[in-house]
Amino acid sequence: MLNTTLSSLRCPRRKKGRSRCLSPLKLHCKIQTRVGSEVFEIRSGSLECPSCTTHYPILEGVAVLVDDLRSYLLSHVKGISKRVKIDDIPKEYRREFLEARDEIESEHIEEDLEAERVNALYLMNHFLRAKGAPATGSGPSWWQPLSGEPSPWIDAWVRNYWDCGPFAKIEDWISTKAKTQNPMQVIELGCGVGGLYRQLKPFISSYLGVDGSFASISMARHLGLGVPDRSSFRVPGDLLQGPLSREVSIPVETNTSGQVDWIVGDLDSLPLREGGADLCIALNTIDMLDSPQELPKIQHSLLKEGGIAIQSCPYIWHEAVAKKLRKLLPKDIHDSARAVKWLYEQTGFKIEANEEHVPWLFFKHLRQIELYSVHIFMGKKSRSPNI
Ligand SMILES: C[S@@+](CC[C@H](N)C(=O)[O-])C[C@H]1O[C@@H](n2cnc3c(N)ncnc32)[C@H](O)[C@@H]1O
Ligand SMILES: [Zn+2]
Repeated sequence: MLNTTLSSLRCPRRKKGRSRCLSPLKLHCKIQTRVGSEVFEIRSGSLECPSCTTHYPILEGVAVLVDDLRSYLLSHVKGISKRVKIDDIPKEYRREFLEARDEIESEHIEEDLEAERVNALYLMNHFLRAKGAPATGSGPSWWQPLSGEPSPWIDAWVRNYWDCGPFAKIEDWISTKAKTQNPMQVIELGCGVGGLYRQLKPFISSYLGVDGSFASISMARHLGLGVPDRSSFRVPGDLLQGPLSREVSIPVETNTSGQVDWIVGDLDSLPLREGGADLCIALNTIDMLDSPQELPKIQHSLLKEGGIAIQSCPYIWHEAVAKKLRKLLPKDIHDSARAVKWLYEQTGFKIEANEEHVPWLFFKHLRQIELYSVHIFMGKKSRSPNI
């Protein structure tokens, strides 16, 4: 974590009655390195809440700002144990952490956001582009085999749709806004491996990404700030050669401004100062939440008056969540896109732009591509919530 990020952070501890503590935090550094003038990377240390006395660790540069630290460490052991020495795990949780580490599932689980393969698929989606790749027939691109016949279908899909996903749409919207307004202060919720920052960088003044996955945040910080991370940047090729057999080079950026960072936090108990952002983005995350109706409220509270929220999703709801959501909706709303837009409107957003279907592609291996059709919209914070 950068020392300059401290002012954006607040204590996420849930109090009785479930409200958050939200006090400013105090930084304790154990190991730090200089990044720029007055900017330091805290590799090891903690954040302390003077009000409720809770301590939050900073592990290999990653600030872990969650309400229930024990449960976080145990359920994210896969991503953490790859990167953090056992002696750095807070003493009171070390024994249980070691037990959980010994039980780690080695096979990949598609939804496990600490798994190497899942993060590799997101790395490709966030950082690899089809534009600028060699023309057909002049050497293999990242989606083509090193030996054997390339798939004409996958080649066509990647060339035609890979670069037209939600990131491209947002770049389009924000670059247009940037022509007439000051550079924006941005918060991204559920940011994953952090590639959206790279796309928005020319148009914004600051960026803070928050995600629940330790592995994703560590990778995002490495690629966006140039701080160390133990990941290998390998992606799927032919699965005969293993799940991640191909090295790719993703340029690592450095940033000395102290205006860009990524932290671990939970959307159910966000560790952030409210009311300071011009733009709050949450991509493909609302359908992972137990209470999706909270996301527009969270974005609303993080934004300044007149601030902009962007939301996108393929709406792959769990039935239990969909069932609860149906109960909230007016009787004439039957589809997910209208339902989520309605939630944002009720929360006080005026929808400014809307695209019903944007392609979002995942490269699973040389013979498999996954296509999601994503709904995306942008709304302006224009009044207080009705719900
Ligand atoms: C489907 S991925 C999308 C990642 C990225 N926004 C994108 O569009 O490529 C959803 C992300 O939300 C994060 N996430 C899900 N629930 C969360 C929660 N309650 N708190 C914080 N992050 C969460 C996951 O770790 C994951 O990185
Ligand atoms: Zn507190």
